[in-house]
Amino acid sequence: MKKFLIAGNWKMNKTRAEAVQFAEELKAKNLANAKDVCVLAPFTALADLGCALEGSGIGFGAQNVHFKESGAYTGEVSVPMLKDLGVDYCVIGHSERREYFAETDETVNLKLKALLEAGITPILCVGESLEVREEGTAQTFVAGQVVADFEGIGPADAAKIVIAYEPIWAIGTGKTATPEQAEEMCAFIRGVISGIYDMATGDSMLILYGGSMKPSNAKELLEKPDINGGLIGGASLKADDFAAIAEAAASLQ
Ligand code: PGA
Repeated sequence: MKKFLIAGNWKMNKTRAEAVQFAEELKAKNLANAKDVCVLAPFTALADLGCALEGSGIGFGAQNVHFKESGAYTGEVSVPMLKDLGVDYCVIGHSERREYFAETDETVNLKLKALLEAGITPILCVGESLEVREEGTAQTFVAGQVVADFEGIGPADAAKIVIAYEPIWAIGTGKTATPEQAEEMCAFIRGVISGIYDMATGDSMLILYGGSMKPSNAKELLEKPDINGGLIGGASLKADDFAAIAEAAASLQ
């Protein structure tokens, strides 16, 4: 059976009360695949969200973390702090962090290692800009990110990482990659992972698509063989829309 993960990336949205209300609405849907669903919230909402989701099977996580355990890093949050909250997942290397907050493949790599050590599942984002796609070098660019981000990570740990392919030109733009474009790159990434490690690691890796996924286009993306789910921004803010995407995945199992 194909494995799925449907991950909602709230970005900088929702207060604690709004997060709890969303959790109550989502739980009320009695999702068929609650264990394959997670919500990635701002740090401030994580404690309340975790309590509200407890026992539901639905996972939760953060959208960033620092790679150092503690110290003089004003404004940052460490892996032990996330561990203390009981988070299941953490997004790393989202294109918005790479673009606006100077995230590099080097810091992404350090963050992946710190999360793996703590047993938190990283959701690693990769993806090319419109400029790179139009130049015809999208695959080379994305392969470069994958190779750099996995540097020094052994096969057992690599297998625990979830990759999200998010073409930057499709994020928040309403311009979804066609199912064929998304499938082509997800299959290519799987091949890159198989090349670094082995076929079994590539075959079993969860590779998500992200970029304007919504209830109306989710099924055609999710039914592609190399797409194991979605990292969903805008459409994860409403429980109805997010649940509809989760149900689209469950219907394919
Ligand atoms: P979007 O965002 O679904 O709003 O395009 C996806 C993401 O950036 O994770």
